Amino acid sequence: MNAAAAQAFDRLCAGAPLSEAEFERLLLDKSRSLRQEARARAGELAALRFGRTVHFRAIVETTNVCSRDCRYCGLRRENAALRRYRMDEEAIHACCGQAYRLGIRTFVLQGGEDPALTDERIAGLVRSLLASFPGAAVTLSFGEKSLGGYRKFFEAGASRYLLRHETADPAHYRQLHGERQSWWNRMACLHALKDIGFQTGCGMMVGTPGQTATALARDLAFMQSFRPHMIGIGPFLPAAGTPFAGMSPGDAGLTLFLLAVCRLMLPDVLLPATTALRTLDPSGCRQGILSGCNVLMPNFTPDEFKADYAIYDGKPRTSGEASLASLRAEVEAMGYRPGQGRGDWMPLAGGSAAGGEHDA
Ligand code: 5AD
Repeated sequence: MNAAAAQAFDRLCAGAPLSEAEFERLLLDKSRSLRQEARARAGELAALRFGRTVHFRAIVETTNVCSRDCRYCGLRRENAALRRYRMDEEAIHACCGQAYRLGIRTFVLQGGEDPALTDERIAGLVRSLLASFPGAAVTLSFGEKSLGGYRKFFEAGASRYLLRHETADPAHYRQLHGERQSWWNRMACLHALKDIGFQTGCGMMVGTPGQTATALARDLAFMQSFRPHMIGIGPFLPAAGTPFAGMSPGDAGLTLFLLAVCRLMLPDVLLPATTALRTLDPSGCRQGILSGCNVLMPNFTPDEFKADYAIYDGKPRTSGEASLASLRAEVEAMGYRPGQGRGDWMPLAGGSAAGGEHDA
């Protein structure tokens, strides 16, 4: 570990805010010692903070119709090879009911930006799910909507929203999304979600084409100031039918290091060991938890649609029940236990468990 990186790491562990340059120094130091130390510290911090609890969320991918053309994503509009589907309300209820009976108390409804999925339909769905499944939380992940739409979802009772920022670097954002999608709008959406009162999730992929250490440092600096309640980070994995098909996947070790840095930077954050990480690395669940993750999201999309939600190649097709059972077994074998209840974000009382004081 070089001296500049060691100094930045000490400050991170002490709960001090880091500059973008300091984050970059951490990223450029690829020594085993730094990566391992960060992951071990983050894992210990999460174990302490959450009492070796891991929250389970059921993800239901309700539509793969998308009006966007994100260059990395297999659901992009221009991918004509993909069979498109849209689940009706009854089918969504059936999936959530299955998860609910298995003890899961958070439903994550995710989908492409499907024009048929109006704000009213989303709000109605949230209302009916909350009425049918007492004590459950609904997280939405339907991309960029209007401020009015987000407000409707919140009023309907949705309490969390996941919208990855994808990259905090506007030039890199253009490389990933083309000229027609606005980085500024993405940022405006994230701020609106937080202002409305959603527990808000952002995040990015690791190893997207054109991503530099500077861009990743900017992601970390952005998240440090934005203070999301949830962060989704997974490796980029190439998807058939996209301009990035055939490109190299992101690096699992770097992904785990970034997860660890996020845990140390935001001790309270809800941090999943993402499906993409678990797809790239068969030990991703265990490694993720040991690096500070405290959330797992088994996929309860009906088997008949799973293959069509092809955001990247090689996405597992295991049924919700089976993947919940195997993830639960893994967690328990590590001496951790599944969280009870909704598993909402909760602020850490007092100073940072990392050692020092966090700024307000
Ligand atoms: N590889 C990894 N992650 C991807 N996502 C979309 N396409 C890919 C891919 N090819 C991620 C994006 C998006 C989230 C739902 O999935 O970050 O926000």
